[in-house]
Amino acid sequence: MSTGDAGCTATSQIHAGYEPQAPYRPVAVPIYQTAAYEFPDYASARRMFALKEPGFTYTRTGNPTVAVLEQRIAALDGGVAALATATGQAAVAVALLSLVRGGQHIVASSKLYGGTVDLLTDTFDDFGIEVSFADPAHPGAWQAAVRPATRAFLTESIGNPLATLQDLPAIAAVAHAAGVPLVVDNTLATPALFRPLDHGADIVVYSA
Ligand SMILES: Cc1ncc(COP(=O)(O)O)c(C=O)c1O
Repeated sequence: MSTGDAGCTATSQIHAGYEPQAPYRPVAVPIYQTAAYEFPDYASARRMFALKEPGFTYTRTGNPTVAVLEQRIAALDGGVAALATATGQAAVAVALLSLVRGGQHIVASSKLYGGTVDLLTDTFDDFGIEVSFADPAHPGAWQAAVRPATRAFLTESIGNPLATLQDLPAIAAVAHAAGVPLVVDNTLATPALFRPLDHGADIVVYSA
């Protein structure tokens, strides 16, 4: 782990995203076991539900415990924000489905984790989303796979299970020349070893 890096220090791994609050100032992050939240008044509730005012409205869309995890991951990765999902596979799906819809296209590494391959070739196929697989060792193969309908690139910083590595800035350059974001699954590396946003990635996903 690099402690010289401002983002992923040992201290921020433990403390980022959490400020102990009065009256008890617990050092461990409190677990907020609530689905609903009380609002100060009707007007603030309306503004929060309209996303015009920050705040928690219902735990399925946000919870103070989960928010600490989200802010900590964003801090460790040097990102602007993070969204926690129930599983890593959901994170991959949510990241891609925010970019791509039916009739559009993804270029993905040919050395991905098997569950992600199933997600792309089975579930996304049902949605009408097409996926081309490109060799992560050859950025030229990614360039050749780009179509007018391409909306995202997807790779893993260290491929599971083959520990495949790639020239990430070169693949990011191909993605950006095509006007699309590069999504990187950084599960195997973790931000302690590698921070994809520093090497051209636009969105990072994890199985925690
Ligand atoms: C690289 C990678 N991405 C995504 C996943 C899926 O994550 P989860 O099992 O948390 O849904 C895994 C699971 O092993 C993985 O290894």
